[in-house]
Formats: sequence, structure tokens, C-alpha cells
Amino acid sequence: MITINFIAGDAQQIRAQGRIGRTLMEAAVAAGVKGIAADCGGLLTCATCHVMVAEPFAALLPAADGEERAMLAFTAMPATPASRLSCQIILNEKLDGLTVELPASQY
Ligand code: FES
Repeated sequence: MITINFIAGDAQQIRAQGRIGRTLMEAAVAAGVKGIAADCGGLLTCATCHVMVAEPFAALLPAADGEERAMLAFTAMPATPASRLSCQIILNEKLDGLTVELPASQY
């Protein structure tokens, strides 16, 4: 398990645990993080699992593939260079302490 910090728009911080090999979205849903809707359950068709990944963790992630980049065009809040879809982030040991900001809305 690794620790993940979700930072909501009101600066409230939610600390959660995530299983190695599972996705960041799954960790958020399991922890009841309200800012992650994940309507498609990780099928990469909804863009309601949008997060902004803080450094230094962003640099540790593989680059978004073409499908993820395409879906980032459909986020409710405008995507930034730090934007990722949390269902595409696979947790590993190096991501312990991962900190992500939640957008103001997923709709
Ligand atoms: S959960 Fe739907 S795109 Fe990530």
C-alpha cells in the first residue's frame, strides 16, 4: 500500500491508501474521495476521473498515451499540463506520497 494525498479545491486534504498495481482512480473510489466520479469505471470513456498531478510525481509517470490525451479534451474543467486521468495511473512503490489536486468539478 502507498499513501496518496488528494487536495480538493477548497484546499481540504484527503489522505488515502492505494494498492500497488491498482489505479489511482480505484484508490480514490475505495476511499470515498468525492472529487472523483469515475462514471465509466476506468474504461477511458468519461473523463470524470480528472486530476492534476503535482511534481515530483508527475515526472515519475509514463506519458499519457494517445487515448488518454484525447479524453483529456473532454474534462469539465480545462485540462492543464499537469492533468491526467486517474484511471490510467497505475500505482507503484515510487508513487508513495503521490499528491494530486482535484478539479473544481468533474461535470
Ligand atoms: S474513469 Fe472514466 S475516463 Fe477514467
